[in-house]
Amino acid sequence: MKAALRTLCAAALAGLVHAQAPFIAGLEREDLGPFAGAVLVSELGCTSCHAGGQKAFLAKPGPDLSEVGARANGAHLRRFLASPSGVKPGTTMPDVLAHLPEAQREDVANALAHYLATLGQPGASGRPQPDAVERGRTLYHSVGCVACHSPEKTLSDSVPLGPLAEKYTVASLAAFLERPLDIWPGGRMPDCQLERAEATDLASYLLRDQAAPPTAFPPDPVLAVRGRALFAEHRCHACHRTGDQLAPPGLPAWSTLRAGEGCLSGRRGAWPQYPLTENQRASLGAVLSGDAAPWTAAEEAQLALTRLNCVACHQRNGAGGVASDRSEYFTGRDNNLGDQGRLPPTLTGVGAKLKARWLHEVIANGASARPYLHTRMPKFGSANARPLVAILKALDTPTPAVLTRVGESSRPHQAGRELVGHRGFNCIACHTFRERSAGAIQALDLMTMTERLEENWFHRYLEQPERFSPLTIMPGFWPDGKSPLTQVLVGDSGQQRDALWQYLAQGPDAAEPAGLALEPLVVTVRDEAVIIRRAFPGIGKRGIGVGYPGGINLSFDAEQMRLASIWTGGFVEASGIWRGQGAGQARPLGQDAALFPPGPAFAVLAQPEMAWPVPDPTPRPRPSSFKGYTLDDRRRPAFLYVVDGFAVEDFFIERTAAGPRRLERTLKFPGAPPAGLHFRVAAADSIEPRGANEFAVGRSLVVRLSEPGTVRGAGDAKELLLLVTGRELKLDYHFNAKP
Ligand code: HEC
Ligand code: HEC
Ligand code: HEC
Ligand code: HEC
Ligand code: HEC
Repeated sequence: MKAALRTLCAAALAGLVHAQAPFIAGLEREDLGPFAGAVLVSELGCTSCHAGGQKAFLAKPGPDLSEVGARANGAHLRRFLASPSGVKPGTTMPDVLAHLPEAQREDVANALAHYLATLGQPGASGRPQPDAVERGRTLYHSVGCVACHSPEKTLSDSVPLGPLAEKYTVASLAAFLERPLDIWPGGRMPDCQLERAEATDLASYLLRDQAAPPTAFPPDPVLAVRGRALFAEHRCHACHRTGDQLAPPGLPAWSTLRAGEGCLSGRRGAWPQYPLTENQRASLGAVLSGDAAPWTAAEEAQLALTRLNCVACHQRNGAGGVASDRSEYFTGRDNNLGDQGRLPPTLTGVGAKLKARWLHEVIANGASARPYLHTRMPKFGSANARPLVAILKALDTPTPAVLTRVGESSRPHQAGRELVGHRGFNCIACHTFRERSAGAIQALDLMTMTERLEENWFHRYLEQPERFSPLTIMPGFWPDGKSPLTQVLVGDSGQQRDALWQYLAQGPDAAEPAGLALEPLVVTVRDEAVIIRRAFPGIGKRGIGVGYPGGINLSFDAEQMRLASIWTGGFVEASGIWRGQGAGQARPLGQDAALFPPGPAFAVLAQPEMAWPVPDPTPRPRPSSFKGYTLDDRRRPAFLYVVDGFAVEDFFIERTAAGPRRLERTLKFPGAPPAGLHFRVAAADSIEPRGANEFAVGRSLVVRLSEPGTVRGAGDAKELLLLVTGRELKLDYHFNAKP
């Protein structure tokens, strides 16, 4: 009986020790053999105190404590510091105070907690709201948290979260989740790209059982002063930043350490206590006694992917990948894509696939190309991305592909567009093109390809997609190297691939392929003005459309510095711009439209009866030039331009209060106008005076002027001119009510 009890106790004790051992997720997943020790050295921060060793031993920095008082409750910290792995089993922070007698340990932890509580001001605290908890639960189980942490249905092998409810308030936890990289700079807890509201929902979910926020912990100033000294004395600053500048602890260098002594002895002494498993102790000992041959690039890559636990979501060369018991939490919104529509992509050969700049964008900033995945690629920050990009690019060397460049004369853009369209290879049946597609499958957007992919990889992939992912539904288009489309570029497969690349590489300028389903792309205007700088009817490429709140719009010609048109109602339909139809123009919507004549709006007429200058048909350097615009608080532009050396500021504002919608225009001239300078307000078949300085132009436009204008004949039509004498002109445009 007694013996049985003893074995039971021993088993429980062994279990307990194991449960408290530092947990390093990637290491639990991957069998790294002799390299496991190297990961432990960095994750346990050994070289923070024992300087030196290989690059791969670089210590994971501990959390930045300079604002810790604002986020973590002092009573919790006191408990945590007195027994880190007791309060948070699995923590990688060692027990630095373990060698102190119990009473003294409590005392030191208390003083430290009071000191830490002076670092930062606690913010507001509130209760988790039930609807936020539910939203948070959904997010937690879909955006990627459970790749590393346990889902609600508890899974072992999960990064521990500790007693969050005694540590955080909803607000302080949300603030942490929104920018974990700033606070825990090691990047092991990555930034999952959360909006503020999402962070609050997640925090509410994680604190769902919190009955009340932790009780306030006002720091005692005397204890805080002592705590500050103890912080340095116990070498906490080896792993944590606080804002104080402290000298690094002068401890035996890494290369002098004897395995089985000090921190690795398993005995209590004046060193940090790590509750290691036998395996962990053995791995660390092996690193210490092993010879320090530098890792190969492949080993370095594997170590880095394990350390940051990329392997929780990605596989590379057959290792890692989503674990089967977590697979159900990886979902997407396009079932037609199968596993490719829910699991993160493989990292096998990724260095040869992605351009260095994009690779860095993905790892550092979580750049995305697959909006259909619910799991997000987290941000790991530049410091972690930079070395990883260098290793992956150096390691995954591309196999060269034969590139056949299609010359300009063979119109590669046109050929590429034909191949992508529904009468060609119909890529748009499965890929979106500027976020729209023709088919049920909506894989990666074609517009992202040339930005992300190495050209060489693109060729090799298209040649034989199944070589890269055996089960992919992406077809090979050149069986036996031959093209079924013999009429495009004489059916040459290399040229066809090059044409595809060149066409896609045009980016925003690539005209839309044939076959995309067409819905109108209406640009709506809400409470701020909307500006579209593109081609408009009757204006060349340098058109500027402005939709004003309240439903009145104009187009301005920044080539000829003139108002080109005014219309009311809807602003524009933009498929012409974004889909490459209709000559790439924006199509004005709405009803009434008044067009103003081409040609200059300002001219010096030596004699008042001189004809208005005609627009110059030959393009040549012009004395007029557009200087851009400034925006007011509702984003209405004031156009700035120079006409024959004379500067103009041209501002429109909508007036929608009473009566018809109007545009009020103010032209300002910082310099004195030259003698004889005229402004042409309008030219139309009919221009009739209607009242004091008011004119009906054509069928429906009415213009009111701040000073008297002159109507004169111009061929079959009429012109309305103003002599410019002062520093400002005001005009007002509106449309006649319908008869
Ligand atoms: C907070 C600082 C700190 C950290 C972190 C730390 N150690 Fe130590 N280590 C010490 C101190 C203090 C001693 C005792 C030094 C002495 O006696 O001069 C020591 C001693 C040792 C010794 C015995 C040295 C000898 O040869 O007598 C070894 C081995 C050792 N540590 C290994 C490790 C390993 C492995 C890690 C990481 C798992 C680690 N240490 C992390 C502070 C630290
Ligand atoms: C790639 C793995 C990974 C992912 C994904 C991840 N975490 Fe973490 N998380 C960690 C690690 C590792 C730590 C501990 C960091 C350390 O020890 O340096 C951590 C720490 C935390 C902590 C701090 C606990 C404390 O003691 O204060 C919280 C809270 C947390 N994670 C929540 C989340 C949430 C919510 C998500 C999803 C939005 C998430 N994590 C996604 C790995 C991950
Ligand atoms: C070997 C490096 C190391 C040493 C030495 C160390 N810590 Fe830590 N500390 C960590 C790590 C890693 C974490 C995060 C681990 C976790 O929460 O699971 C942490 C967490 C903390 C936290 C919680 C921070 C937060 O943002 O939630 C506090 C507070 C803290 N340590 C204080 C101390 C104090 C005080 C000392 C000295 C008595 C000390 N640490 C010594 C590595 C270290
Ligand atoms: C929580 C899961 C998760 C973790 C952890 C994770 N990733 Fe990702 N990763 C993703 C998802 C999801 C995508 C797809 C993103 C997209 O394209 O929209 C992705 C995409 C990528 C890509 C782009 C691949 C391609 O072919 O376009 C690279 C490179 C990458 N991850 C590298 C890493 C590295 C390196 C790490 C570790 C530092 C890492 N990932 C950690 C989920 C994860
Ligand atoms: C029958 C559907 C289908 C058609 C048709 C199709 N693709 Fe794909 N394509 C896919 C799917 C699905 C993927 C994602 C494959 C994966 O993740 O393994 C893909 C992947 C790709 C990739 C690799 C992208 C990356 O970053 O991993 C490129 C490049 C590509 N397609 C180009 C094209 C081009 C160009 C065409 C037309 C010539 C085309 N595809 C036609 C389904 C298709």
